[in-house]
Amino acid sequence: MNSPKHVAIIMDGNGRWGLKNKKSRNLGHRAGIKTVEKIIKSSIKNKIKYLTLYAFSTENWKRPKLEIKFLLNLLESFLKNKINELNENGIKIKIIGDIKKFPKKIQVNLLSSQKKTINNNKLNLVLALNYGSKNELLNAIKIIKAKKMKINESSIVKSLYTYGIPNPEILIRTGNTKRLSNFLLWQLSYSEIFFEKKMWPDFNEKDYKKILDKFKKIKRNFGNI
Ligand code: IPE
Ligand code: IPE
Ligand code: MG
Repeated sequence: MNSPKHVAIIMDGNGRWGLKNKKSRNLGHRAGIKTVEKIIKSSIKNKIKYLTLYAFSTENWKRPKLEIKFLLNLLESFLKNKINELNENGIKIKIIGDIKKFPKKIQVNLLSSQKKTINNNKLNLVLALNYGSKNELLNAIKIIKAKKMKINESSIVKSLYTYGIPNPEILIRTGNTKRLSNFLLWQLSYSEIFFEKKMWPDFNEKDYKKILDKFKKIKRNFGNI
């Protein structure tokens, strides 16, 4: 039986959930935070070592200004209110993505959350923020060129935001949509993909456990037989 080390999640469906249940997309985003907390706890319980959450994509800047502002405020208050609890629970925060596009105050918060939790090892919580795979690969190529490294698989892996993190065995996308939306295209090349009908705020520990159990029974070939 396979035990997954790394689960990556595209947390989709907040907006639709919010419109349906609260007449507001933003209240859907707020409800999504509760699911984030549940899935972090459940990951620890299930001995997952890396949990990567797609929280803001390089394409999400196309959204209305007010929604972007709401998302950034949510991120800021999540860090402010939860950092001590995360730290006490042995969670190490790692950011992937180009956070230089975020307001200075949030950048400082993000970097200090990483620093504060750097010695923890119960769960690595990887937050994908202003993350896009195409941007990550372009950035990697620029690094390789600047450092005059040889072009091979190893130099690419070393130059990605995810260097040091094993590839996800599992990708979950909630929200009843079957696409990758520019998420971890290199890293997901051999992942098992689970598309969930439920919107992110409705996704729960039971749904998560079901996926983890299903994964354990999958025969993974990696091109072999
Ligand atoms: C995903 O939910 C959360 C973020 C992109 C931050 P959406 O906001 O995309 O929700 P839907 O897909 O519009 O319902
Ligand atoms: C993917 O969801 C990004 C995040 C969950 C952060 P989107 O809702 O932005 O994806 P598309 O635009 O529907 O593909
Ligand atoms: Mg969406």
